[in-house]
Amino acid sequence: MTSRAGLLDTAGVVGGVVAPTLAVGVLNRRPRVMALADRLHLDRMALRVLQRLRARHGAGPVLLPVPGRRIAVLLEPDDVARVLDATPSPFSPAAWEKRRALEHFQPHAVLTTPMPQREPRRHYNEVVLEAGHAEHSLAERLRDVVAHEVGQLLGESDRLDWPRFERAWWRIVRRLVLGDQARDDTEVTDALAALRSRGNWAFLLPQAHERRRRFQQRLDEHLERAEPGSLAAVIARTPADDGVDPYGQVPHWLFAFDAAGMVSLRTLALLSVHPEHAATARKEIADGEAGLPFLRACVLDAVRLWPTTPVLLRESTTVTSWRGTTLPSNTLFFTFTPFFHRDRALVPFADRFAPDAWLDGRAGALPALVPFSDGPGRCPGENLVLLVTSTLLAELLRAGDYRLLAPTTLRSRTHAHDRLPATLDNFGLRFARTAQEASPSSP
Ligand code: HEM
Repeated sequence: MTSRAGLLDTAGVVGGVVAPTLAVGVLNRRPRVMALADRLHLDRMALRVLQRLRARHGAGPVLLPVPGRRIAVLLEPDDVARVLDATPSPFSPAAWEKRRALEHFQPHAVLTTPMPQREPRRHYNEVVLEAGHAEHSLAERLRDVVAHEVGQLLGESDRLDWPRFERAWWRIVRRLVLGDQARDDTEVTDALAALRSRGNWAFLLPQAHERRRRFQQRLDEHLERAEPGSLAAVIARTPADDGVDPYGQVPHWLFAFDAAGMVSLRTLALLSVHPEHAATARKEIADGEAGLPFLRACVLDAVRLWPTTPVLLRESTTVTSWRGTTLPSNTLFFTFTPFFHRDRALVPFADRFAPDAWLDGRAGALPALVPFSDGPGRCPGENLVLLVTSTLLAELLRAGDYRLLAPTTLRSRTHAHDRLPATLDNFGLRFARTAQEASPSSP
């Protein structure tokens, strides 16, 4: 049976789960708040709030009596699977809150498009991003771009931190999405970042129409060139059905690549404190294993541990029935993925770095492990992200060993092996690179 949370529980979820998630910045992370959240262990607190809710109310969904909105918190893996599998109907991803936030910079993106216009936009994304293929047709070119940019990055210093990594990362992203001529156009991605910051405030801030128009115009100029070896070229040769707005999909891609950068550096941090996994990754690289499956699994597990989209929202378009209770249409279903990803009762490797779980079927057998979502709304960029990030990590690892200088929480053996922190502030990551130690079998 669904149950209704009392005022105390509602305040707990709003204050302990929703408010910190919003404060850190859903669409553009706020570094200072992220550092604070890390220090105060806010994500661990959010997990406890939801554990208490489940202990008190059972399977749920638990309804929060919030004025003006019917919100149902999902607490059962099967319920998460149900709403994701039955996307977009009757569980639409284009929830009102998401539309208000994302229309600041991507009003035509598939994620916020209701049916029936959603279908052709989804299809277009899948075709251009080559969603069903581990290797995008741009893979060869991408490897060259990554090697070049990582070479430049590491040539500057033996220290690696977020600001230096981020500059190189965006060069890679701009070259991949828009072409080499956009490599140094920081203005286009900075303009997007400014619009994303407005999006953090959703309906509380009016849209900056003129700023968005200027951003889209600049973006369009890059896309018009359709430079060979870029997604812009793939767009140019991919026919689009009516109402798709191909260029209107690109702001989402650029925005989402930000998350992939965060995940890359977090994965490097995990590898730097797990030498046994770093050794497996190095072997895979040295053996020239196609597709770098182990490194891809490392990235997947980093997203599981610290999801970059921690909240999945679905809005019901019809009446739905839950363990004998019916919920009207327009109910907002709220899934907080870290609650499931870190549930020790559900996931034996909850707080450990467990890349192997993605290779031996253990992760696949758990329907609530959804780092890239699932069902018909699953991220169509997943394979491209795993390609770019694994290629980048391979390039970084080829260039040396990395000692994690900060944060110290991850360096402590207790954390590294049994109980990884619930927050990992990517902005605070710092490494020292040293020449790679010769393996015992080397001559
Ligand atoms: C680490 C990087 C990324 C992660 C963890 C990630 C994860 C996700 C998740 C969880 C969703 C579902 C959101 C929801 O249901 O509300 C999603 C949707 C989406 N992602 Fe990603 N994403 C990443 C990067 C990318 C990139 C780089 C692209 C494009 C190049 C991309 C394209 C999309 C699109 C188009 C959707 C909307 C799908 C739909 O509504 O049908 N993502 N992503």
